[in-house]
Formats: sequence, C-alpha cells, structure tokens
Amino acid sequence: MRTVKEIAAAAGVSVATVSRALQRPEVVSESTRQRIHEVVKRLGYTPNALARNLRTSRTRLIVALVPDIANPFFSEVIRGIEQVAHENGYSVLLGETQGSLVREQAYADMVAARQADGIITMSPRVPAIPIDGRLPVVNACEYVKDKDISSVYIDNVAAAVAAMDYLVALGHREIAFFAGPASSPICVDREQGYRLALQKAGIEPDPSLTVVGDFSIEAGERAVDLLLSQSRPFSAVFCSNDEMAIGALRALSARGVRVPEDVSVVGFDDIRFARYTSPSLTTIAQPKNALGREAMSMMIELLNDPSVPSRKRVLSADLVVRGSTAPRSGGSSSRS
Ligand code: RIB
Repeated sequence: MRTVKEIAAAAGVSVATVSRALQRPEVVSESTRQRIHEVVKRLGYTPNALARNLRTSRTRLIVALVPDIANPFFSEVIRGIEQVAHENGYSVLLGETQGSLVREQAYADMVAARQADGIITMSPRVPAIPIDGRLPVVNACEYVKDKDISSVYIDNVAAAVAAMDYLVALGHREIAFFAGPASSPICVDREQGYRLALQKAGIEPDPSLTVVGDFSIEAGERAVDLLLSQSRPFSAVFCSNDEMAIGALRALSARGVRVPEDVSVVGFDDIRFARYTSPSLTTIAQPKNALGREAMSMMIELLNDPSVPSRKRVLSADLVVRGSTAPRSGGSSSRS
C-alpha cells in the first residue's frame, strides 16, 4: 500500500497538495492534478475512506507529543489528556520527539494526512502542519509566543520566586540554580524567578552558581560535580525540575555532602518519586493532571469550532516542603 507521503514525494508536491487534489480537486491547478493523477495510477495508490472524506470526517485520534517519555512528569500530564479524551470519545496516540524536528514532523504529517485530528505538544514549539486555516495544535506545560496557539501552563516566574523565597527565609544566600534549556520560555521564566527572588533579598546573583542542564538526572549530577570542583561555596540548590534535583541529591551524597544539613535541595514538578527520595524532595508541585485535562478540553473546543479564540490559561502551583531543605547552618554546612 502506497502512502500519501510517497505519492507527494514522487509527484514533487506537498502532502497537503495531494490531500487537496484527492478531496477538493477544484482548488488544485490542472497541471498539478494531472501530475498527481499519473503518480497515483503508476504507483497504485488507493485512498482509504478516511482520506476520501478529509474535509468532514474526524479520526477522533489526538497525538500527544512529549519530549521525553521516560520523564515521569509527562506520564501524569498524559493521564489527564487521556481521561478527557476518553470521556469525549477520543483516543490518544503518544509520540516521543526527543527534541527531534524530524520525529515531530512525522506526527505533524499525520494530521495533514488526516490520520489524526490534532496535536497536543509538550514542547516549546509548534509543529509545521501544511494545512489551510487554524492549526489544530494546543501547547501543554509550555507556551509559545504565537498568539493563535492555545496553551495551558503554570506561572513559572511566581513558582520559582516561591521556591527561592522559602530558601531565603531559611537563611540561605549562596543559592545555586540548575537551569533548563534556554530555548524553552518556561525555563527562562524559572531563571527570571530565581533572579527576582535574589534581587528582593538584596543578594547579588553570581553567574558561577548557575549551571544549565537538559532536565536529566545526569545533568543534575554533572552540575553538582561542577559546583563542587569550583571554590565558590553554596548552601542550597534550586533545580528547574525534579529529575535534575534527584541527580543533585545523588551526587551530593556520593561526595559526602549531607542533605539538608550541609546543602538544601529544591526541585520542580513534584513527580511521583519526589516523596520517595532520601531525603524526600522539597519541590514545586505542578498540577500535572489538570494541565493534561485542560489541554485536551482546549483541543476538543478547537476541533468543534476552529474559530474559537485562542487562550493562554495559567494554573497555579504550590511549594511542597519535605525533607531536603533545612535552615542554613553556619560553617561546614555551607561547603565554604
Ligand atoms: O521535567 C520536565 C520539565 O519540562 C517540567 O518541569 C515541565 O515544566 C516540562 O515542560
């Protein structure tokens, strides 16, 4: 069986043009139509029932795109997406991008070929879908500047300020920050919150205390190793996600640094494992299920009425205090 993609490649046109030629031939030029027709005949392509009804039929399938399927944060968001999908007669197809544009495009092509109705993406990017009109795309957990894309996420600046205010209230002043990738607006927001809180407390930010990671456990371990190899003391670490915080806990303990006696650690997300680390992790609890549920509700709203105004919905997040944080103690606890 030939695919629309193969037909498009052989005819030298886009998937969207092939789709249009099959469903609405009147909007495609005569010469392009002829070329596609010849390729279809030569390669033996038979459009299926769905492809024939592209304009009207729904697949009732949604693609949920995640950057990292192994990160437990996303499982809980996906559960929320799936719940609302199920309640409304939709199914969810999970796609992992690992940050690859090629993988992302393969899923976007499914929507263009009407094999799926829309995409909920958990990356800070909007996939290119070659279709006319409103893109059936919703952003969950992240957001993009594009005002036409609906998003649901938390106030990352406020959440980071809350985490930092708490560390400052415990007496910490040399607070390291493990940032996430700067390509994501929410990571920039978290860093902004870190800086704002320092500023409020009259603490001069020290660039040597900020380390950029990729949200992985290993990145947290590497960041701690880097900090400990410098002579700059620190008594607390605020991490941009829980996985990096878990890496930090592990690396600190491996180097004989006690948490929270010597160094306090705060994470971000409140993944399921945060309460089972040793010590349990103080963190920012994102409303993961609600993020997923709201993203799917927005998607259904958009599919039912493509003219619905887009919106950016900001949910609240809470600081959950557990065992990995404590008042700053003098002397050795600060690793100075
Ligand atoms: O852990 C992964 C991070 O990326 C989370 O903090 C979440 O906000 C997501 O977008």
